[in-house]
Amino acid sequence: MINDKILILGATGQLGSQLRELLDSQAMDYLAPSSKQLDITNADLVTQYFQKYQPTIIFDCAAYTNVDGAEDEPGKTLDHKINAEGTKFVAQAAEMIKATLFYISTDYVFDGNKITAYLPEDRPHPQCEYGRTKAEGETSVLNIMSKYYIIRTSWVFGQYGHNFVYTMLQLAENHSQIKVVTDQIGRPTWAKTLAQFMIYAWRQKISYGIYQLSNDNYCSWYQFAQEILTDKKVKLIPISSADYPQKAQRPQRSIMNLDKVKATGFLIPTWQSALREFKEEITN
Ligand SMILES: NC(=O)c1ccc[n+]([C@@H]2O[C@H](COP(=O)([O-])OP(=O)(O)OC[C@H]3O[C@@H](n4cnc5c(N)ncnc54)[C@H](OP(=O)(O)O)[C@@H]3O)[C@@H](O)[C@H]2O)c1
Repeated sequence: MINDKILILGATGQLGSQLRELLDSQAMDYLAPSSKQLDITNADLVTQYFQKYQPTIIFDCAAYTNVDGAEDEPGKTLDHKINAEGTKFVAQAAEMIKATLFYISTDYVFDGNKITAYLPEDRPHPQCEYGRTKAEGETSVLNIMSKYYIIRTSWVFGQYGHNFVYTMLQLAENHSQIKVVTDQIGRPTWAKTLAQFMIYAWRQKISYGIYQLSNDNYCSWYQFAQEILTDKKVKLIPISSADYPQKAQRPQRSIMNLDKVKATGFLIPTWQSALREFKEEITN
């Protein structure tokens, strides 16, 4: 492990930046090319880069994450090029050098109709283009890689980049009321908890396979907003998804079962305590 050579893809994004922060705090070295230096949609470039630098651990946080933008031209958009084709190129090049690949996926691979929590082995049945291309990415990793972790996550928030927590806090600055959807249920995830689990999985050499990691407990977007704005004066108005039409269909109920991660010994904080800690961090 001490000899591992780490490569982070998508190192400028919300999760990639959090991962860099954690590795920096542990004085760990890593490679972190920007998307301009290493565009994962260019198969030759990816192969050449991997052959040249020979990473042994690849944290792949690179993705097209504009869920509604992905609906514009199904199958032809940047979304497909990056999430489906790009992931396949990364997996092919990673397998050639026998590296271990961490691929981050999403609860949007599920349709959201299951009453009980989704298990890692449940079959994906995505309802939007982003979910379909992320599921294609999963399939490539499963078919190509010998040493891999697919980690599905959901509703990510953190210090870096755009997310629901920042949006709510910003809206509360100049609005007296905010309407929030109350009939979509899921699990929020602090990017820091996810980055900690990725490092834990690598260090503890847990078994390869599919994992699901979010913070514990679940809520609606409305309940999430209530907790975010607990100390703000703004009035929250519950609305249904039908009152807030979006291009991409989101899962109504995308609660993922976390038992497989818990069985590794990793302690998952509740989303409420993760949010509290995150708010303290950004306030300080
Ligand atoms: N955010 C969520 O709520 C959420 C929920 C479930 C799952 N996930 C998954 O979690 C992972 C991390 O998401 P995130 O929120 O950190 O995403 P993000 O903030 O949008 O970051 C995406 C990263 O991918 C890079 N990238 C995009 N196109 C690329 C290309 N062609 N070649 C190389 N790099 C490229 C971006 O670089 P540039 O900025 O230079 O383009 C950026 O660094 C993704 O796999 C995502 O699907 C996210």
